Amino acid sequence: MEYYKSNHLTELEQSLPANYYFCDTHYRKEIETIWKNNWIYVCHKSRISRNLSFLTVQIADQNVIVLRDSKGDLRAYYNTCRHRGSVLCEQASGSINSRLLVCPYHQWSYSVDTGKLINVASFSENPRGFNRNNLSLFKVAIKEWCGLIFINLNGLAEWSVDNLFQKSPSVFANFPLEDMVCGHVWEKTIACNWKSFWENFNECLHCPNIHPELTDLVPMFSNRVINPKDLSSWEPKTEKSNPKFSGGLKFGAETWSTNGSAQGHKIKTLTKEDLSNGHVYISSWPSMFIGGYADHVRAVRVVPINSEKTMITAEWLFETSALNDDNYDIKNVIDFGCLIMEQDAKACELNQKGLKSEPYQNGFLMPEEYVIKTFHDWVRKELSQRQ
Ligand code: FES
Ligand SMILES: [Fe+2]
Repeated sequence: MEYYKSNHLTELEQSLPANYYFCDTHYRKEIETIWKNNWIYVCHKSRISRNLSFLTVQIADQNVIVLRDSKGDLRAYYNTCRHRGSVLCEQASGSINSRLLVCPYHQWSYSVDTGKLINVASFSENPRGFNRNNLSLFKVAIKEWCGLIFINLNGLAEWSVDNLFQKSPSVFANFPLEDMVCGHVWEKTIACNWKSFWENFNECLHCPNIHPELTDLVPMFSNRVINPKDLSSWEPKTEKSNPKFSGGLKFGAETWSTNGSAQGHKIKTLTKEDLSNGHVYISSWPSMFIGGYADHVRAVRVVPINSEKTMITAEWLFETSALNDDNYDIKNVIDFGCLIMEQDAKACELNQKGLKSEPYQNGFLMPEEYVIKTFHDWVRKELSQRQ
């Protein structure tokens, strides 16, 4: 029988050293190597769809304004005035009143389209050596893939969709990501290191005790695996196969929602096979994953605030036909997603609380935790390659 046991860890693997999860020196190293060189998810395009709308994003101690300029193009600038370094924009999101970004301190103003310094509010002539052409806003690289916006703090970073996700995004081929609209945003600061979030996301050993409702919806999770092929009792997915061994949602359930119903709004472009998957995921380390379901998509952004604080932002994307239908209750999917994310947040916080025990130097990975091993190898490689 074909199953993935070959992926299982057969040798005892050590987890990353305990101090990687709280030591500030190590944290700074991860920010410099990992977070300032990889493409970081900002938001779905529908959150800044109008010209001059903006959103600010905090990545560790760096703050970036991401906006749509007066022509509708995406731009990103460090949120810092070139005069004496004031923050330009304090709000998390909103709309700029004119084509100028005006510093709230002494009113230097910059073109939203080019970042060029346009006006200074000084009373007398500019000093010798002052050249406004040298005082544009600092630009940040920005790209979009299927309506998902990413930035990179390394201005020389290459954009490669092939390397953006940990596996091929083909499972999302039939999802109309570009045309979907964000119907709800949820944010939470979790008291854990950002890596703990990913470790928790990449295993299901915790599912039965941390997520009783999810384990009911996805019976395979009662086996504590993330892929049905991890099971020696794996069954290929058919209409009659037992979801406990073939994956997917329990009989009768259509989507990730409180009552399992897609309320008549299954995404029209999804095939029978897409729908039978029940849920699909792709991750872009270090900053995001998306989950695809019959009637919605959930994009989750992960950014570090400090070595022991991580900000999670979830966006729920819907087709406009669902959002415009008064009979479609988005709370049905949002409440379920929030319940699971709250449970995971609590688990990550539990994990963080125990890490400083002095005799604890590192943990160990069990056979099913092979994706965590892949993640750890990725972290180690990033740390060593980008020294
Ligand atoms: S710091 Fe922005 S205008 Fe002075
Ligand atoms: Fe979980």
